[in-house]
Amino acid sequence: MAIERVGVVGFGLMGAGIAQVCAQAGLDVLVRDVQQTFIDRGFGRIDTSLARLVKSGRVTESDAKAARALMRGTLDLADFADRDLVIEAVVEELPAKKVVFGELDRVCGERTIFASNTSSLTIVEMAATTKRPDRFAGLHFFNPPVMRPLVEIVQAITTSDETIATLRELAKRLGITGVVCKDTPGFIVNRLLVPYLLGAIRALEDGVSTPEEIDHAVKLGLGHPMGPFELIDYTGLDINLHVANIFFDEFGDPSMKPPPLLKRMVLAGRLGTKTGRGFYEYDETGKRKPST
Ligand code: 3HC
Repeated sequence: MAIERVGVVGFGLMGAGIAQVCAQAGLDVLVRDVQQTFIDRGFGRIDTSLARLVKSGRVTESDAKAARALMRGTLDLADFADRDLVIEAVVEELPAKKVVFGELDRVCGERTIFASNTSSLTIVEMAATTKRPDRFAGLHFFNPPVMRPLVEIVQAITTSDETIATLRELAKRLGITGVVCKDTPGFIVNRLLVPYLLGAIRALEDGVSTPEEIDHAVKLGLGHPMGPFELIDYTGLDINLHVANIFFDEFGDPSMKPPPLLKRMVLAGRLGTKTGRGFYEYDETGKRKPST
């Protein structure tokens, strides 16, 4: 089955990025959030991103316009009845996700595939609450989706091979690489990334070096686009703490245990770029302030 009509539920940072990637590939995209202000903010993000892509020569102005015209917003999940695929990108809380999938299950046609963009929850736990656990998978995109050409296609024990084949084709259509993996905490990338990021915070706690020096070392020594502290600020300290707690519960591995400094920074509201302060400080446009 070829995917032509996509629904995205949750129009935050990831939902907007996923919608944009799908529309840039020529798919018809319907997004849903619970308030018109969230929908407007999501399209604001997409307009800014499309303008950056045009400015940097990655996308032509006419392709950007065409992509923008393929996206529509709604407040009503009932509008998702004709979708071939629905990707859920709401808050990382199981009860909220279950409500969304319960409603979608009633509204969508039998053939519609459901996918969750969760980074930390178990796919089968969501799949089992629907009447289509064989047509339910994880589709885990990376931030920012328009710049990171990867999607993890997560096969729960209930997901059919046919569903996985369809999602592999979708990844090709999106022009990104789809890697198939099992439904285990963190899938591939976060399973490796989280202990590394927590290790960087422990190195800071141990006084090994400063965030700047550690970031420089990793970027120059390993060729990463961002150092660990830049990346934690970018993805959000709260998100990293939440994910680490889930992984530590599941694996019981000390490398997944959230360091005290991370907990305290979250309690202090230093969540990274989005609050203007994490390991570094940022201005209102999200640009990093020079270190004093
Ligand atoms: N939309 C459009 N264009 C964008 C963009 C966006 N959202 N973000 C960056 N760009 C463009 C810029 O306009 C710039 O264009 P130019 O080449 O003409 O100057 C170019 O990309 C480079 O951007 P910057 O100069 O701002 O900075 P960087 O070179 O550092 O690139 C970055 C920014 C693309 C974010 C890059 O640093 C990066 O890829 N970092 C790694 C991010 C990462 O690791 N993501 C995964 C996190 S883990 C995750 O998401 C899993 C989840 O479960 C937590």
